[in-house]
Amino acid sequence: MAPSRLEAGGIQGQPLATRERVQSAGWWPTKSMPQRTDYLGPASCVECHPSEAAIQETTPMAKASALAADSKVLAAHDHLSFRLGSYVYDLTRNGGNSVLSVSDGTRSASAVLGWAFGEGEVGETYVFARGGTFYEGRLSYFPVLQALDIRLANSVRHRRIPIRR
Ligand code: HEC
Repeated sequence: MAPSRLEAGGIQGQPLATRERVQSAGWWPTKSMPQRTDYLGPASCVECHPSEAAIQETTPMAKASALAADSKVLAAHDHLSFRLGSYVYDLTRNGGNSVLSVSDGTRSASAVLGWAFGEGEVGETYVFARGGTFYEGRLSYFPVLQALDIRLANSVRHRRIPIRR
């Protein structure tokens, strides 16, 4: 039902109801954020920000993360392996995906990597989702070693990443 003139108003000094506020222009605390699908993408910025757009892809920030499918490091390695005690970690490229698996010889688990973080100069760290939760894998790829290894800052387990949704 369309709101009455009085409700919709703000006219004649009448305050707006929350549902009108939410629909009207301007910010309001309970207004929902734009959907992710509303984002037009970097190509849409060129028109008004040509000089920024020309160099954006070369900036460290632009290179700071990528989908695992787009990671140059992952694409360049069909298979990486790392042993830690009785555990063997394997990172295997399969089509456009990279699968991280870990096995102690008896039990095993695996996950398709979702994202690669880091510019790749010092290292690249991988994140995957399992059961609706995001995890940072405990291994990173280090160009200086040309291999996977444990990050010093990392503790014994996969780190659980709190993500607000
Ligand atoms: C239709 C023109 C237009 C488009 C398209 C546009 N912008 Fe802007 N943007 C502006 C204007 C105008 C400003 C304000 C500039 C100012 O205040 O000096 C601005 C400001 C900004 C600022 C703040 C800069 C600062 O110094 O605070 C950022 C960041 C920004 N835009 C990013 C983007 C991104 C990212 C895109 C693409 C997704 C984009 N803009 C697309 C016109 C546009």
